[in-house]
Amino acid sequence: MNDLYYDPWHVEIDLDPYPTYRRLRDEAPLYYNEPHDFWGLSRYDDVESALKDPKRFSSAKGDLLEVVKADPVMPPGVFINEDPPLHTIHRALVSRAFLPKRMRALEDKIRAFCIACLDPLVGGENFDFVLDLGAELPMRTIGMLVGIPDADQPAVRAQAHRVLRNKPGEPLPVKKDHYFDGDMFADYVAWRKKNPSDDLITELLDVEFDDESGTTRHLSSEEILIFLAVIAGAGVETTGRLFGWMGKVLAEHPDQRQELVDDRSLVPGAIEELLRYEAPGPHVARYVTEDVEIHGQTVPAGSAMLLMLASGNRDERHFDDPDRFDIHRKSVSHLTFGRGAHFCLGSPLARIEGRVALEEVLNRFPKWDIDIDAARRSRTSTVRGWDSMPAMVS
Ligand code: HEM
Repeated sequence: MNDLYYDPWHVEIDLDPYPTYRRLRDEAPLYYNEPHDFWGLSRYDDVESALKDPKRFSSAKGDLLEVVKADPVMPPGVFINEDPPLHTIHRALVSRAFLPKRMRALEDKIRAFCIACLDPLVGGENFDFVLDLGAELPMRTIGMLVGIPDADQPAVRAQAHRVLRNKPGEPLPVKKDHYFDGDMFADYVAWRKKNPSDDLITELLDVEFDDESGTTRHLSSEEILIFLAVIAGAGVETTGRLFGWMGKVLAEHPDQRQELVDDRSLVPGAIEELLRYEAPGPHVARYVTEDVEIHGQTVPAGSAMLLMLASGNRDERHFDDPDRFDIHRKSVSHLTFGRGAHFCLGSPLARIEGRVALEEVLNRFPKWDIDIDAARRSRTSTVRGWDSMPAMVS
């Protein structure tokens, strides 16, 4: 019998999941994990097809494996966990936050924040890609996006951190009757109601839309709170993981790092390749709504399905020499931001954060080595990366 085993909580596998992913793609492209009772898809094409098929692979019970299996009560408005047509209505409202003009306006602020983080470290011998940069930037950026005051930001980040963390080797605990808490921005939305400005929250308070029953109305404060909590939940821990990988992978590829120092026009391609090579969110999950035939086997209705984005990103059926990190790779069509209806709304922002942070690092520290023994993994099943990535600069 085959010794192939995979689960997303396995601490050893998670350290380097790529050999296991390869075996899954080759030996069990449809994988069933009996102890934890979930199915898994690991090939690029299979993952992509499932993501584009919300009718059979539904998000309505969650998009994290633990959540799909716990099947908690889901308040309306958690649009990342909704299917069309409700999802389409809610996503259209939230998309206002991510219009290109808003993104462009944020770039200068993001750069100013990176400069403020990095300048005090110049002249020192080391800095930490996560603790000094990645830990704060994603929440600050969302704060800039929706207009959250600086003073409230640490509390909001701590909340997002709690929601997404599991104990090593164990699934994330999910409260069945109270899975989603939208309270973290409550005081601020109440205050904005009385003090309108030109920020996103005011815009969401003002907007009129046709809801699922066809009624034209305003959003309630509760709905806005849920939307904001979804954005923070989706955008903080994921983007935070990007920076640890940035430090590690570029230190392991000094020639390509030097090319980036010499030619900044290569930076966007490097960020894209980094996202492919080490996906900060390695998988999403779906609920199977009807019996589905895949690779000659039937996945029964009611199953939980894990879609391994990070494995698809290394699928040799789709990418040439996928285990090679190559900033010159043409059209890096990775799965890191998902596909289809739920394609990451914040991807333009994540890309700006990655690009600007890397530019500002290279401006100050063109060379560094990683102290891998002192680096600390973040032990989560939902995001994969580092809580600390110390670099010695030269
Ligand atoms: C490197 C960083 C990021 C990664 C790897 C990432 C990944 C993803 C993935 C895979 C999905 C699809 C989930 C699914 O299909 O179930 C998603 C959705 C989403 N992401 Fe991101 N994301 C990142 C950054 C961000 C940022 C910065 C924001 C916001 C500021 C954000 C906001 C969202 C939202 C709101 C959704 C839900 C979209 C929907 O359901 O229609 N993400 N993200």
